[in-house]
Amino acid sequence: MKINAHYRQLEESYLFSTIAQKAAAYQQEHPQARLIRMGIGDVTRPLSQHVIDAFRAGVEEQGKVETFHGYGPEQGYPFLREAVQGYYRSFGVELELDDIFISDGAKSDVGNILDLFDRDNLVLIPDPVYPVYRDTNQMAGRTITYLNANKENGFLPLPDRTQRADLIYLCSPNNPTGAAYSREQLAEWVAYAREQQAVLLFDAAYEAFVQEDLPRSIFEIEGAETCAVEFCSLSKTAGFTGTRCGYTVVPSALMRDGMSLRKMWLRRQTTKFNGVSYPVQRAAAAVFTEEGLRECRRSLRVYQSNARRISDTLEELDIWHVGGKNSPYIWMECPGGRSSWEFFDDLLERAQVLGTPGSGFGRNGEGFFRLTAFGTPEDTAEAMERFRAVYGR
Ligand code: MLT
Repeated sequence: MKINAHYRQLEESYLFSTIAQKAAAYQQEHPQARLIRMGIGDVTRPLSQHVIDAFRAGVEEQGKVETFHGYGPEQGYPFLREAVQGYYRSFGVELELDDIFISDGAKSDVGNILDLFDRDNLVLIPDPVYPVYRDTNQMAGRTITYLNANKENGFLPLPDRTQRADLIYLCSPNNPTGAAYSREQLAEWVAYAREQQAVLLFDAAYEAFVQEDLPRSIFEIEGAETCAVEFCSLSKTAGFTGTRCGYTVVPSALMRDGMSLRKMWLRRQTTKFNGVSYPVQRAAAAVFTEEGLRECRRSLRVYQSNARRISDTLEELDIWHVGGKNSPYIWMECPGGRSSWEFFDDLLERAQVLGTPGSGFGRNGEGFFRLTAFGTPEDTAEAMERFRAVYGR
């Protein structure tokens, strides 16, 4: 018996588990301290009333013989796929119903999609990056090339046409930096992916935070349907981090090596996945109704206002940062030239505020730090007061 030895190359634990352990240890040593958590991007606003009503009705249906649902379609119920299709249409993207696959969240599908690709593919990943892209490829033993995202390119790297790539990861608005690509910039990525005959794996989990005139889907870009797969999630859009529902779009026009990736993904899902629970899909469909979207936007506005407060405070303290405008993440330079983990400890010790060290997202994250706007307005305001007290001149 041989284990998958590629696991030896992984960090000892997943970034957010390490942070949670550190926070727990600090809290145990300082039971009086009131920690403010701006680390993992977990929402604090509850599901909206309209969504809860649909969720409850779905549960009730499961309790009656006449309305009970057993196994559902692996790809998701048509009522939810139609709702997602309508949502895309609202920003000008036409999808075929069969392009849409319902999942338990973007993280799972971002990892699972790798079943479709040979181990020898060259993987191109921006650095810093959401650790799931890197770790899932390391688990499979793939060679990864990193693309430098840094202060000079505003953490929005563009393709280097001389670089070979088979699988390309992009996330916009970005996790962890909060920076968001323009249409022209994404068009360059699509052109590059097509030249390379690569597949662009596009993570749109933060599209609902876009406020400026920026693309919310890679499929807003002409030609993307022949080279891209898109992952999205209701976690941040509608507060589903603990409820779990997302969707992946694999267009019918996406062919590689004479195979339809949509057919391959359907084959993979029908074999390894039995779908998302019926009440959760009912709740998810309610998100995309007029009332559901209105209620979700109310919560999004709270996070957007937190992000503005964080950004304004950093501005006032003359701390360089990006993000926050079209994203719930703010990516800041560590004050005083500290390393990411030095700043993590300093902030925890002196302000009892918890964030995420940039170096956990890759080499280029060293010296940077991520804050999230998902807290309550009260906590966010207090955290910023503590920032001023500790890092103000
Ligand atoms: C994050 O903090 O980066 C996110 O919560 C991670 C995730 O969505 O899995």
